[in-house]
Amino acid sequence: MKKLKKLALITALTMAAPLAFAASCEVTIEGNDAMQYNLDTLEFSQSCDTINLTLEHTGSLPVDVMGHNVVIAHSEDIEGVSDDGLAAGLDNDYVKPDDERVVAHTDMIGGGESTTIEISMADFNIDEEYEFFCSFPGHHGIMKGDIKFVD
Ligand code: CO
Repeated sequence: MKKLKKLALITALTMAAPLAFAASCEVTIEGNDAMQYNLDTLEFSQSCDTINLTLEHTGSLPVDVMGHNVVIAHSEDIEGVSDDGLAAGLDNDYVKPDDERVVAHTDMIGGGESTTIEISMADFNIDEEYEFFCSFPGHHGIMKGDIKFVD
């Protein structure tokens, strides 16, 4: 029981940390074996030319069982990107190759792995709405969130 409380506290602290570094150009999000991200919003600072987005899979299940990625697209394109990604299969990280609706996406990774991509802020129109999601089959409904542009 004590251990659980400690874990909950660590989780709370981890989730609070990004607020203290809102202007950072380094953004990290985690995925776990319970099909969850640790964040439901990714904050991208407008003062950054480039965002370094890191996805860490904190679980241990392999990529073909509990794979996670981060796919970013306009909100209205998310469903289409997801559907076409499923058809593209694991060989393509469940992202349709050269999908022009995809602003950016990470590799699909399994437990214990980590991947980082550079995202150009010039690829966004900050007046428009963007979301992110995991394109692994069945994950989209839970593993999703909004992109928020901050100062
Ligand atoms: Co996933």
